[in-house]
This record gives sequence, structure tokens and C-alpha cells, in this order.
Amino acid sequence: MEKSEWIWMNGDFVPWDEANVHVLSHGLHYGSGVFEGIRCYETDRGPAVFRHREHLERLAKSAQLVHMQLPYDLEELRGATHELIRRNGLTSCYIRPIAFRGYGEMGLYAQTAPIDLAVAVWPWGSYLGEEGKRNGVTAKVSSWRRISSAGLIPQAKASGQYLNSILAKTETARAGYEEAILLDERGFVCEGSGENIFLVRDGVIVTPSHAASILDGISRRSVIQIAHDLGYTVEQRDLARAELYVAEEAFLCGTAAELVPVREIDDHALGEPGEITRVIQAKFEDALHGRAQEYAEWLDLVEQPSRVTS
Ligand SMILES: Cc1ncc(COP(=O)(O)O)c(C=O)c1O
Repeated sequence: MEKSEWIWMNGDFVPWDEANVHVLSHGLHYGSGVFEGIRCYETDRGPAVFRHREHLERLAKSAQLVHMQLPYDLEELRGATHELIRRNGLTSCYIRPIAFRGYGEMGLYAQTAPIDLAVAVWPWGSYLGEEGKRNGVTAKVSSWRRISSAGLIPQAKASGQYLNSILAKTETARAGYEEAILLDERGFVCEGSGENIFLVRDGVIVTPSHAASILDGISRRSVIQIAHDLGYTVEQRDLARAELYVAEEAFLCGTAAELVPVREIDDHALGEPGEITRVIQAKFEDALHGRAQEYAEWLDLVEQPSRVTS
């Protein structure tokens, strides 16, 4: 990964290579952490964080769901992140806040282990690549089912839960596919390993509902809003696996990957990215980069210090 200079850790800005934790940190052993993936884009008005508040609110909700009390409030985290972007001199970057149980107590009910909180920012290109965004990616349905609320909390972006996504991603990558699609525990389509999924069927945009154990993706919410505003019908409903193969179009969306067309699923060709995918992708990209006036409020501008001119 590409290093930047500073990481914010428990209230201080520390050099990248010194942002370390003890090997007996609770979160390392049990996955007791919550995190976010956020992006900052270069816009005409300077660096801007996409839907910053919604991401921080989801971080707080994830923490609450796993009974962790965040040691900073969201406005403090927002300010620290802005300052971090400025100090690192970045105009666009990926942003990774993480809160985890730190060093001090072991065992599963370690209430005295401190909650550590860090934010890192670094330059990171689209997760499935620019080529994938242009021409679409290949995907395979994993044999691993997405975690369900029978045993975990799919709505929480919690560290330990990502072993599920890692198993699915590893299986499909080893089989030669670019992304995994997970079914929910009932066998309906759920999502990608780190993205929500949309299909186009008979001109209607369809996506799994919250009943399918999805993460409530912020890109998903944005895509639904954009699709409505463009006059498309969006249905949130259960999707059978076979609908993946007969869809006119399919795409994935998430903060790391952005909006990526899918051109093949389980060796069934869907073909070139379709028109609806293209139209929504273009508007979504405009929103991310501050080119869509109607979505200007989704961007949290990182104020730059005013230049002194003499
Ligand atoms: C499992 C999973 N689903 C969906 C998403 C997409 O969510 P978002 O659009 O908020 O990044 C992510 C990424 O955070 C994810 O990890």
C-alpha cells in the first residue's frame, strides 16, 4: 500500500510507521473492532469527503451494535479526518477509521480493555480496477453464504465479520474470477464481497432488500436515489440466484470499488455494460467528483487554510 505521512491515533497525529498496537490487543485476537471505508475526492472546490456524516453515523451504529462506546464524538472524528487529509497533503484518498478493543484484558467479556480509535488516509485506486469500471468484471457465486442475523449482525461493519467476505473472495479469486457474489442464508442473492449488487430486469432496477442480510451500503443508498431521480423504477426484493444469469445488466457498488459493471456471472455472459448501468455510473461519478449540483450536499468539503498573499 502507498504510505502517507501521518495517522491519527487516539487523539494524536503519529508518523505512519509508528502507528502500532500491542500484539495482545483484543481486536487482533477476536476481531472485536468496527471500521469504515470512506473516500475523499478532488473537486473544483477542493478535497471533499463523500457522505462523511453517513459513514461516521454507521461507524457509531456498528460500535453500538457490538456494545462498544466510541471514545470520541462524530464531530471530533470529522475534524480529525479533515486535519489528517490536510497534514498529509492529499487531494483525494481512501479513509479508514477503525475502533477496536485494545490491549489490557483478554477473554471474551473484556470490558476493561480500552477502545482504541485510529483514522488512516492514503491514496488507493478503485478496488476492482479502472479497467473493471470501464468494461465490467467477472463474478462467481461463492459456496460461502453471507453471515445472517441468526449468528451475527450483517448491518454492522465489524472487523471479525469480514472473515466471511475473505473466505468468499479467496475462493472465487483462486477459481479465476474478479469478484465473489454471496447468497444469503436462505439462498437468495445478497451482495458482493465488499459491494452491494443491482440487476436490471425488464428495464426495472432490482436489488436485494434488507431482509437479505445486506450491509446498508451508502453507495447503494446513493445509487437508489440517483436512479429514482433519473426516473427509473427501483425494486428492493428477494432475487433468485438464476436471475443473475438472465438479467439484462448487473453492477456492483461500494466505496472501495465505486460503481462496477458485471459482465459475466458463473460463466454466463451478460455482455458489455448496459445502458442503464452506464447512465447511473456516469451520474454517480459526477456526484463523487462534485460535478452534480443536485448532489452537492453529499460532499463534505475539507477546508484548506487560506493562503496569505502579500
Ligand atoms: C460487505 C459489504 N457490503 C457492501 C459494502 C458497500 O458499502 P458502502 O457503499 O457503504 O461502501 C461494503 C463496503 O463497505 C461491504 O464491506
